[in-house]
Amino acid sequence: MLRLALEGQGHTVVEARDQPEAAAALLTTQFGVVLTDLRLTVGDGFGVLRAAKDVDLELPVIVMTAYGSIQDAVAAMKEGALDFLAKPVDPDYLLLLVERALVQRRLATENILLKEELAQRRGAPQIVGQDAALKHVTLQLHRAAATDITVLLEGESGTGKELFARALHALSPRADGPFVAINCAAIPENLLETELFGHEKGAFTGATTRKPGKFELAHRGTLFLDEIGDLPLGLQAKILRALEEKRFERVGGTMPLQVDVRIVAATNRNLKAAVAAHQYREDLYFRLSVFPITIPPLRNRAADIPMLAKFFIERFCRDVNKKPMLLAPSAAEELAAYPWPGNVRELQNCIERAVILTEGDTIHARHLNLSFREMVAAPVADADGHWKHIDLSGTLADATRRALAEVERRKIEQALQESGGDRGRAAEILQVNYKMLMGKLKDYGLES
Ligand SMILES: Nc1ncnc2c1ncn2[C@@H]1O[C@H](COP(=O)(O)OP(=O)(O)OP(=O)(O)O)[C@@H](O)[C@H]1O
Ligand SMILES: [Mg+2]
Repeated sequence: MLRLALEGQGHTVVEARDQPEAAAALLTTQFGVVLTDLRLTVGDGFGVLRAAKDVDLELPVIVMTAYGSIQDAVAAMKEGALDFLAKPVDPDYLLLLVERALVQRRLATENILLKEELAQRRGAPQIVGQDAALKHVTLQLHRAAATDITVLLEGESGTGKELFARALHALSPRADGPFVAINCAAIPENLLETELFGHEKGAFTGATTRKPGKFELAHRGTLFLDEIGDLPLGLQAKILRALEEKRFERVGGTMPLQVDVRIVAATNRNLKAAVAAHQYREDLYFRLSVFPITIPPLRNRAADIPMLAKFFIERFCRDVNKKPMLLAPSAAEELAAYPWPGNVRELQNCIERAVILTEGDTIHARHLNLSFREMVAAPVADADGHWKHIDLSGTLADATRRALAEVERRKIEQALQESGGDRGRAAEILQVNYKMLMGKLKDYGLES
């Protein structure tokens, strides 16, 4: 009768006649809820309850008792039963209890997942990668984490500077303290100072209350100064003083405040070059670069590409409730060949898109949508593959001419590659006439 009632509501029911049968079924099937009588021919409901909890502590168990044996029901509840039903069972009430149990179970599962996520957020974020180049920097990161030394993270956009900064904090003795991040490039210069140092009430029009700055908020923790290369010159001196003395004043304040913060800074600009170009204070640069860690671009750590791809495939499949997908060999080859100007972030976005586009269980090259034309947007790399920024010296015209020439040269090289060295075909691809292309080839020394 119970089976019919439950199946009528769309549930799937597995029946067991006694405790051993129930225990066996619990081992082979994943149940949403267990219903058991307390009195069974072999064993009893308490045994079933224990067997269920052995398999899964969160598995809801509802016990059924003969009218009048309320004490047994109470005992079962103490052992972890979710609820009890007095016999004779009212089917409507049974269905209500079962629905409620299923909801509770879903919430419990979600709760576990959320807790895991939270722990992961609190704990060290996972840095994926096995390439020797990356191993080297993670080792440095661990060394720095044990100390209070100021760390400067350098690397191209998307290489994982923020991830490293968070990992550094989580691995440090300050892990229980706050991690406070501020992006120096994203905040207008006139607001940046109050963001960093806070302000007193009445410091300026609109300052109706006292506001603490990031330096204060990071007390006993880590302050992450992101895009430190974009710090306006005017603020550089103030930051320098705060870094040196761990003391500062709120805007409009007179009392110096003392804080205990660990500084981690990040930049995708070449600070040394900025110092040389007088755009950056040399003393601040020295103060920041006590312990520099340069995260290599993804194209220089090829061994990490398949690992990261797998990691992101698993993550995004989980996010959209799809089974983990496979990567077709052709797709893996494309991932390996692509230069990843946007580094890990670009790879992550590429995989996310592919997971959404893929209908089956295998990601093929066409799902990756990698346009090798984007290579033009790659930051200029020197022969060693070290990142370096476009040379901005000289006048506007000088810098622009140099940058355009670089783009032109690369585009031509790419067209030649595509055409297999056929210059007529390359001219077609580029939509320029043959004679002009020959001239350019000569200009750029690409004739051979
Ligand atoms: N080694 C890695 N393992 C796992 N995820 C990574 C790794 N490196 C980067 N990521 C992920 O790639 C994305 C980009 O990383 P992050 O934001 O740290 O880069 P960034 O260097 O700060 O970039 P930008 O200069 O553009 O601010 C993030 O989602 C990050 O979690
Ligand atoms: Mg960043």
